[in-house]
Amino acid sequence: MSEDTFDVVFIGGGPGGYVGAIKAAQLGLRTACVELRGTLGGTCLNVGCIPSKALLQSSHLYHEAEAEFAQHGIKTSGLSLDLKAMMARKREVVDGLTTGIEGLFKKNKVEYIPGRGRITSPGSVQVELNGGGERTLTAENIVIATGSDVMGLPGVEIDEKTVVSSTGALSLGKVPKHLVVIGGGYIGLEMGSVWGRLGAKVTVVEFLDRITPGMDGELSRHLQRALTAQGMEFRLSTKVTGVKKARGGVELSVEPAAGGEAETLKANVVLVSIGRKPFTDGLGLAEVGVAMDDRGFIPVDEDYQTNIAGIFAIGDVLPDRPMLAHKAEDEGVVLSEKLAGHVGTVNYDAIPGVCYTWPEVATVGKSEEELKAAGIAYNKGRFSFAANSRARSSGDREGGFVKLLADKETDRLLGAHIIGPDAGTMIAELVLALEMGASSEDIALTCHAHPTLNEAVKEAALAVTGKPLNM
Ligand code: FAD
Ligand code: NAI
Repeated sequence: MSEDTFDVVFIGGGPGGYVGAIKAAQLGLRTACVELRGTLGGTCLNVGCIPSKALLQSSHLYHEAEAEFAQHGIKTSGLSLDLKAMMARKREVVDGLTTGIEGLFKKNKVEYIPGRGRITSPGSVQVELNGGGERTLTAENIVIATGSDVMGLPGVEIDEKTVVSSTGALSLGKVPKHLVVIGGGYIGLEMGSVWGRLGAKVTVVEFLDRITPGMDGELSRHLQRALTAQGMEFRLSTKVTGVKKARGGVELSVEPAAGGEAETLKANVVLVSIGRKPFTDGLGLAEVGVAMDDRGFIPVDEDYQTNIAGIFAIGDVLPDRPMLAHKAEDEGVVLSEKLAGHVGTVNYDAIPGVCYTWPEVATVGKSEEELKAAGIAYNKGRFSFAANSRARSSGDREGGFVKLLADKETDRLLGAHIIGPDAGTMIAELVLALEMGASSEDIALTCHAHPTLNEAVKEAALAVTGKPLNM
């Protein structure tokens, strides 16, 4: 077999591609992963999940020192921000993790090919190597794992300095006086939180009448109240009709979404965070005949195969599924299992979503709105962190709650929603419960350590059909 012949070639080294490649190699397939960025890890590790969480953690600590330490009897003076050091730490975290994947590739015998991949025909990938020159790879299976890119606003030029996408918002050189965020979704609220905690005035302009569309409405409203209490301003049902550079920053023309009087908002920096689009530029898909929908997403069958035999797709390029790193990873693993002749499936009803604001929000399964729309009768159990001893002793002031939704007849868990400290970690037991088809009674009968935040989950489970013990 020539050194350019593989069982499977992944194009894109993000969470979908790199995890899928490792799994394929572990299962004995001769595997290569082509990545053009120069580092592995994709959007997630380089300009997404990881740098944003590094800055969320640093800014959280700064805010704690500034506003929360005193309640614990810790006095501070001379507190100041070293933004350069904060950014350097973020880079260090990213560099450590991205180079770590190169180590994992070596260990698992995945060939890493830095360059831009283009499918020239089923079974053939041409790579323009980053170091110069070209390589033609032959592969029985080709996986498109090229992810997504920032979605722009028509007529608005993103210069990554004053009008930024999430990538620019992760690397601002100074704290803006006024940051206007267009879009009240995950990126807008997380990056708005970072800069708000570091001292910026933050205004979120959202087209719809609510933030975080798709999330259970009760959580969404609670989150908006908590962020408002932290100083974030919201302009809901509002559309941006123009953005122009002005002295010292940017001027935005906004008006009610339903039409009405226009007004001008002045900002030092504007973050455009209205969603992401599939990234397939230069891949040669149209030439090879790979079908795409009208927004450029690539439809696949239950085996992740596109309309062309031997060409597969996973991750953010797929339509109608959440754009999340862990979802892309699971698809990579399942696809590799299938290519190696095993079976596998991703349970799309049990993919958790976490918004890493403070309080954090974590959800899995159905929201109340979805259950009502589907006409499914359910019982609801709710327990507040205000009555949880661990949350009280930690001094978590914003409260929050756990809400569980279970089938009225069978008591089977249908949805779980948490807003509160460390919600993203706590949701794991409920994802497992959903996967295992557990009932609220199963959760209520499970021993939870004391004092922990997870006791709120047990109490919410008790509340589904009966009464909580501590409220
Ligand atoms: P990507 O990670 O986008 O990777 C695709 C890779 O393919 C890229 O590195 C690209 O350079 C490469 N590529 C593209 N074309 C070619 C080509 N022709 N040849 C070679 N290589 C190519 N998700 C979470 O689950 N949790 C979070 O906390 C979270 N935070 C986020 C924060 C931000 C600011 C952003 C922007 C996103 C965040 N996401 C988060 C979403 C997450 O990053 C994506 O869902 C995930 O990265 C998708 O993985 P993927 O493998 O499909 O694609
Ligand atoms: P999003 O889809 O989460 O939110 C976009 C928001 O912009 C929506 O509320 C939408 O109604 C609004 N919007 C759309 N057009 C608008 C307009 N013209 N004017 C005003 N508002 C408008 O998209 P976002 O925040 O850009 O994130 C992209 C993706 O990245 C998300 O879908 C998410 O999957 C992923 N992500 C995940 C994170 C996590 O898991 N913690 C963190 C950050 C991103």
